[in-house]
Amino acid sequence: MSQRFITLEGGEGAGKSTSLAFIRDYFAARGLPLVVTREPGGTPLAEQVRELLLQKREEAVAPDAELLLVFAARAQHLAGVIMPALERGEWVLCDRFTDATYAYQGGGRGLSRQRIAELEAMVQGRLRPGLTLLLDLPVAQGLARAGARAEMDRFESEQEEFFERVRATYRERAAAEPERFRVIDASRSIAGVHASLRVALDAWLEAVS
Ligand SMILES: Nc1ncnc2c1ncn2[C@@H]1O[C@H](COP(=O)(O)OP(=O)(O)O)[C@@H](O)[C@H]1O
Ligand SMILES: [Mg+2]
Repeated sequence: MSQRFITLEGGEGAGKSTSLAFIRDYFAARGLPLVVTREPGGTPLAEQVRELLLQKREEAVAPDAELLLVFAARAQHLAGVIMPALERGEWVLCDRFTDATYAYQGGGRGLSRQRIAELEAMVQGRLRPGLTLLLDLPVAQGLARAGARAEMDRFESEQEEFFERVRATYRERAAAEPERFRVIDASRSIAGVHASLRVALDAWLEAVS
């Protein structure tokens, strides 16, 4: 567990990108060095893997192939960006991480939690985020927000039941690890979400400093 490794999770249109910008400003205002990154992606190779994952294609993608691509990108991202930043003593904020794998490939695609856990152990060793901010909101509301965006990718094109399973998995994980997760009610206004993020970050910085 790394206290300086913070992840942002949530479904489509939950407000992760919006929150990322707020948290970047929060850290900058305090003079704390923060590396902001995302998954899948975060390095040139991992961003190419992201493209492979998100592209809509004729060929059906085997769930195990998808899972291995996600962890291949993660291994590269850890080696190239996350671990070096943490070793320099900097903070890392990542838009989605392994909880998203449990939610999308586990809950969404139906892959076993144990198989995901095996890859998690192989790729991450004992590294886990110290703090995970889960932006939670009803699926329909998130899709309505995301729908305002132009093109739908391979995940965004899934059915509503897929996203319900994603949301349920996120909430189960948050309930199982209350010391790591802060569940933010993302159905509120942006100002309301930011206020909750501020409370969570103030408390976390206080606790780990
Ligand atoms: N709390 C909110 N209330 C209303 N609209 C929001 C809120 N948070 C984000 N949005 C809008 O919803 C859309 C999706 O937000 P975004 O931050 O891109 O979500 P994500 O990165 O989780 O998919 C954007 O147009 C954003 O401006
Ligand atoms: Mg986003």
